[in-house]
Amino acid sequence: AFDIGKLRDQTGYVTLDSGYKNTGATKSAITFLDGEEGILRYRGYPIEQLAEKSSFLEVAYLLIYGALPTEKEFKSFQYQITQHTLVHEDIRKILDGFPSSAHPMGILSSLICSLTAFYPKSIAPEISKEELDLNIVRLMAKISTIAAWSYKNSVGHPLIYPRNDLDYCANFLYMMFSFPTEKYEINPIVVSALNKLLILHADHEQNCSTSTVRLVGSANASLYGSVSAGINALWGPLHGGANQEVVEMLEAIEADGGNTSRWITKAKDKDDSFRLMGFGHRVYKNFDPRATIIKKAADEVLQALGLQDSPLLKIAQELEQAALTDQYFIERKLYPNVDFYSGIIYKALGIPTEMFTVMFALGRLPGWIAQWKEMRENKEPIGRPRQIYTGELERDYKEISAR
Ligand code: ACO
Repeated sequence: AFDIGKLRDQTGYVTLDSGYKNTGATKSAITFLDGEEGILRYRGYPIEQLAEKSSFLEVAYLLIYGALPTEKEFKSFQYQITQHTLVHEDIRKILDGFPSSAHPMGILSSLICSLTAFYPKSIAPEISKEELDLNIVRLMAKISTIAAWSYKNSVGHPLIYPRNDLDYCANFLYMMFSFPTEKYEINPIVVSALNKLLILHADHEQNCSTSTVRLVGSANASLYGSVSAGINALWGPLHGGANQEVVEMLEAIEADGGNTSRWITKAKDKDDSFRLMGFGHRVYKNFDPRATIIKKAADEVLQALGLQDSPLLKIAQELEQAALTDQYFIERKLYPNVDFYSGIIYKALGIPTEMFTVMFALGRLPGWIAQWKEMRENKEPIGRPRQIYTGELERDYKEISAR
């Protein structure tokens, strides 16, 4: 029989907290989150103010370096990022090796990891501040080119090179949607909506992908390698994949004749594993502050693009209304989360569904970088969780003929 006393003698006491629901892994000065009150602040600044007044690159600077940049600092940061958007031509060769069926997230994580080969100084266990700053700028710049190219690869379209006269979001949209044969008109409404979405996703304290980045980095692994691991964590449908599932659910309801009440009943049925995607959150139990901002942005974008009568939006609004007035959802504090609306906006912006998680990664990158940098600066020890062993305690090896 399993002898817990004997095991304790051998291993000491260990706290078990599956899923780390109540275990702090670090001290951090980057993001403050209060799930009961629906508060989210980056470096002390409310998310509402940043989403309304700031730009994604400014927020990236804030998260990574801890303060809003002066005009001079911001210009220099922006200039350097613009100067590094090109990727080594040999990265094209690696990309060519991927079949067109490759998921863009797999390409993204592989090509980000491949940067270690092109910039070997980045893998040194100790790097100078200058080298780290250079790695940060390279990552911020090249991820948008690699992300857009991962999409172009999946549809077999020619790759589009970055344009240095465009800002961060406009340049990304240009590389995603333009063709050598056709002029792409950059819509400022689309640029502004993308800017807002990236800001809202920029950090969310110790979530699964961020914890992955910190854990990998705690072994003194490189920034590129750690971020590549974070991308893989984000790829999981329980983490970054929810916005894609929201749109797929709305499409399924549309194909079902738009019968929202049937799907709500299904979500409440305890014998049915179906859940209303985009509702509920592990931490936010009153409302998701990002969802409030993004709902308003979704209304504006759809109006501006003339999509306010789209059937998917109508279904989304019906679901939202029905759930917000239904006792089941009220009792369990299930509110629409940021992913409920972000999927709708991405769809309206023409971003293909399999790129939704890549968009999330683009937004989350400054948070990953800031958390990795903080962990290194605080000289945190290597992350090494313990376990409660539940296997056989001890047995003697038997020769194969005797088993
Ligand atoms: N639809 C129907 N019922 C739900 C839903 C939902 N979307 N979410 C939770 N519930 C119910 C559960 O069945 C459970 O009911 P019970 O008490 O009768 O057993 C109760 O609400 C509590 O649910 P938990 O799973 O314990 O809540 P938890 O905080 O662990 O989960 C989660 C949060 C994973 C987000 C959950 O609400 C969910 O699965 N939502 C749908 C997926 C989704 O939108 N994910 C994106 C999250 S946001 C983000 O990652 C950026």
